Amino acid sequence: MRNVTLMDVFTHPIAQKYLRRSGVAHAVACAYHAYRLAVKSGVDPDVATKAALLHDIGHYEWYTDGEWDYEKYKQNDIHAIKGAERAHKLLIRLGEEPKAAKEIALAILLHTDSYLPEGDLDKNKLQQIVKKADELDEEPGGNHHYRKIDPELAAEKIKQLDRMVEQARLPMKKTV
Ligand SMILES: [Fe+2]
Repeated sequence: MRNVTLMDVFTHPIAQKYLRRSGVAHAVACAYHAYRLAVKSGVDPDVATKAALLHDIGHYEWYTDGEWDYEKYKQNDIHAIKGAERAHKLLIRLGEEPKAAKEIALAILLHTDSYLPEGDLDKNKLQQIVKKADELDEEPGGNHHYRKIDPELAAEKIKQLDRMVEQARLPMKKTV
């Protein structure tokens, strides 16, 4: 059994607030992509799905006169840093293992390199998965942040993903 399920994370008011800001549909889709990628590459789908679900919760709304200001966003954005910190705090509060919470926070921190200095970082498998999951759901013009999903359907999908993660971890537990 896991200390914290995806549903625990998803239904928390802090997660709800920030997931709505950056797009619930995008977060759910990324969590599913991360699940597939994690199972394929032998990474724990529990941490991969949590990191992907929460990867964008650090977003801030950059507006000028009521209009989204892309330039302002590009210059000032630190959503990966803020997201990593927010996710870590939320997970620890929910009772997540500190080691897992750290891994998840680091994967969120490194899911985009738009704010990092030039040059390739040596990312681990989990970090690569979360970045890839995000890219797989990306739409031109940032439209993936605005795609809508019925809240009940989103919760249903998260519940389903919890079951898939539990299932996928059964053989992993036996070997540990
Ligand atoms: Fe994203």
